[in-house]
Amino acid sequence: MSIAILGNGNMGKGLAKRLAGKASVIVGSRSGGTSYADAVKGADIVVLALPYAAALEAAGSLDLKGKVVVDMSNPITADFSGLTIGHTTSAAEQISKVATGARVVKAFNTIFAALLDAPAAATASVPVFVAGNDEAAVAAVADLVGKAGFAVEQVGGLDGARLVEPVGMLNIRLGYGLGRGTSIARPGSRSERPARNDKGRRRAPFLHSAMSVALTWAPAPSPFAGLPSAAKIRPWPFQPVRPVP
Ligand SMILES: NC(=O)c1ccc[n+]([C@@H]2O[C@H](COP(=O)([O-])OP(=O)(O)OC[C@H]3O[C@@H](n4cnc5c(N)ncnc54)[C@H](OP(=O)(O)O)[C@@H]3O)[C@@H](O)[C@H]2O)c1
Repeated sequence: MSIAILGNGNMGKGLAKRLAGKASVIVGSRSGGTSYADAVKGADIVVLALPYAAALEAAGSLDLKGKVVVDMSNPITADFSGLTIGHTTSAAEQISKVATGARVVKAFNTIFAALLDAPAAATASVPVFVAGNDEAAVAAVADLVGKAGFAVEQVGGLDGARLVEPVGMLNIRLGYGLGRGTSIARPGSRSERPARNDKGRRRAPFLHSAMSVALTWAPAPSPFAGLPSAAKIRPWPFQPVRPVP
């Protein structure tokens, strides 16, 4: 399987790093090197590591016929305070409408880019939710997710993106708005909860809370670390609170 990743930003770079040596990967960029159009030419899977609007534009203008297209976008407002689309459709379904002849699969939108910098062993039980209408396309993306070092959690057809995009938004609220940092991830649904330590807290290998865990490889979490455009989210509408132990 040959993979084109469009967009050399936080997610694109991180995913390319995770897949290095495990798959044939080419990164397309509008800022030099291989163009998006050239990158997709020989690819079986095209990963849109682009903001939602740019992903929509790329999906509608590139020749993606016969390709598996991965949408990882979280369609959020400019101030990062909420989703711009949902309930009866999703970013992935909108992308699918314009990506003529492609099979679109939702994946990776609930994974903070910072996790891609972690050792793969630290994320092996972190679920990547995968939604798609085409069985073979979902299987190909599930394989890609495994190679990238995450656990696959299939959530059915592409309308499952209506559910996982709000989960991405929840991550953003927890990570940035509520100051939990960008090392948090959903606990794996099949993993066992670790034993409590002498302070009664569950720490090894993950720090658990009701909604998310902070992976212990990460440096001290900073609410704005890794945010590509932190200026955009100030003033943040939510008051930071103390993390739930
Ligand atoms: N960051 C996260 O933690 C995270 C987590 C889950 C999902 N996501 C989703 O993943 C996608 C990529 O996020 P990211 O954090 O990697 O973003 P990013 O660092 O801003 O990178 C996005 C890349 O998209 C390309 N691009 C094309 N048109 C653009 C435009 N009009 N404005 C800005 N960039 C444009 C640029 O790459 P070239 O110049 O190389 O073409 C840019 O580097 C987004 O849809 C986001 O919602 C992000």
